[in-house]
Amino acid sequence: MCGIVGYIGEKNTKDILLSGLKELEYRGYDSAGIAVLQDGDFQSYKAVGKLVNLEEKTKDFITDKFAVGIGHTRWATHGKPTELNAHPHLGESSYVVHNGIIENYAELKQELTNEGVTFLSQTDTEVIVHQFEKNLKLTNTAFEAFKQTIHELHGAYAILLVTKSEEKTIFFAKNGSPMLVGINAEDEKYFASSDTPLIGHCSDVNYFEDGDYGYVTNDAIIMYDKENRAKEPSFKKLSTNKLSAQKDGYRFFMEKEIYEQSSVIADTLLGRLTDKEVVFDELPASLFEGINEIKLCACGTSYHSAISASYMFERYSKVKTSVEVASEFRYREPIMSKDTLFVVISQSGETADTLETLKMAKRAGLKTLVICNVDNSSMVRLADAFILTRAGVEKGVASTKAFASQVTIFWMLSIYLAKRNDTLNQDEISRQIRLMREIPSSVKVSDDMHEKIKRLSKRYLHGHGFFFIGRDVFFPLALEGALKLKEISYLHAEGYPSGEMKHGPIALADPELFTIALLPQHLLYEKSRSNVEELSARDSTICAISPIEFDKADDYIKTKTHEDYMLEFFEMMLVVQLLSLEISVRLGNDVDMPRNLAKSVTVE
Ligand code: F6R
Repeated sequence: MCGIVGYIGEKNTKDILLSGLKELEYRGYDSAGIAVLQDGDFQSYKAVGKLVNLEEKTKDFITDKFAVGIGHTRWATHGKPTELNAHPHLGESSYVVHNGIIENYAELKQELTNEGVTFLSQTDTEVIVHQFEKNLKLTNTAFEAFKQTIHELHGAYAILLVTKSEEKTIFFAKNGSPMLVGINAEDEKYFASSDTPLIGHCSDVNYFEDGDYGYVTNDAIIMYDKENRAKEPSFKKLSTNKLSAQKDGYRFFMEKEIYEQSSVIADTLLGRLTDKEVVFDELPASLFEGINEIKLCACGTSYHSAISASYMFERYSKVKTSVEVASEFRYREPIMSKDTLFVVISQSGETADTLETLKMAKRAGLKTLVICNVDNSSMVRLADAFILTRAGVEKGVASTKAFASQVTIFWMLSIYLAKRNDTLNQDEISRQIRLMREIPSSVKVSDDMHEKIKRLSKRYLHGHGFFFIGRDVFFPLALEGALKLKEISYLHAEGYPSGEMKHGPIALADPELFTIALLPQHLLYEKSRSNVEELSARDSTICAISPIEFDKADDYIKTKTHEDYMLEFFEMMLVVQLLSLEISVRLGNDVDMPRNLAKSVTVE
């Protein structure tokens, strides 16, 4: 999804903007651009496609003195990914970059067009710069013009604007889309839509809140809140660890992140387990008081982890649980009762639909909890309570380690609640905790396993589709396996509960229909096995993933024998992730940045 950077200072502005955009590349984009104001003159460059195209265009552009600059990677919403539609957008003497959507852009555009303004792009963003310049003519001070413009915009935005009428200033506004400003001892100021571009440049950062707007010069940050009250920035130390942002010798970030899952889960568990109980110090004691039901809400991969949670919460904690896709929930006028704990799950903490459901739940007076990977993200700041998954920066667009850490948190939370609700005896709680401690070893990728999957992958590059099937928690894992494959191989894949096949989908079975069957030993093995036999009898090509050899399968990936189905779950998760990865590699696709996808979906 779109990314924003900004800089005020004396260093090489062009390089700072381009390297900042590079850090945001993983979020997905289809064009990019920068604008730099130096010695009273603007230079702006834009390019469609990858950042190398912009780098090529700017190779003779020199920024060697004080300058202000803004940059953007665009993921097309209004208008095709063309150079004209790429940001920054120019008025007469100002440039703007914007993340989000201006909902009333059509009315504003119509008014401006009637007044003689010519628009060059099809974007909603361009109205911001023209509206600003219109207001500038009326007010004569850039800040008043900017303030008025912000108040005329409806929708979600993070905006940076630079103008010749205030050469040493960047104007900013934030509502619904993330943005932060960073400082250092050298009086430079950096902006970005997430903290990675600032690591290594800034010591401290201020995360803007919804409604914040103002301007920044090299020696001041002037800020107002949504009630137009002056506001001091609230700085926090920025981490200096960039190691996680590198590939560490792996071919792709996704591969590195699959391999990392063992240490990630060890971090997720760290300090949260004793032999007798699960401890979440971050949860207020009162969070579950008066709660009779849990509602989980999320999108994509996070939604799949939520489904797995619904099985665990009902099985172990005996709490009635339901799961919702956020984009559906927000418009279906749901009934929300105050004895429901509303839980949102999000890797980024910024997904627009999920964030909106959190706001709805808060407005309805429900207690709220977010399971999230990004501290200080919008959801973490908004919810009554949060649990961080501690997966580290996830750069691969296809989520892997975030999912693993979410399911780990849900398993822990279900046992935490089981203790609280007295629904499992102490022996069973201690056993569950002992099992959780084994997750890191069950998700270690062995050379043998990876080699086997690499070899097998060549047989799955064609066909007319894949069914991933499983029962119980292996059903959301089947959904997740199918999503992973779709995302990076562009092959058609669906996840189904194994028992559903004969209610329709089995009509598709033939040798060119590949069934990836999740057959754990410790959960409904016989039932799942018969479902796979039904597919095999209709000549579907079967790839069985199981610790138990299965003679009806065409291909067989042997997993280890574990004591419990949850450990089987984690190992099978590895298998489906690696299978998707290797199929995608063989097809020559861009594993880390698959077509049409964005990492953090901050528009609905
Ligand atoms: C799939 C994937 C997406 C995200 C979804 C929600 O690999 O990454 O389906 O899971 O866009 O994102 P978050 O978890 O950031 O809310």
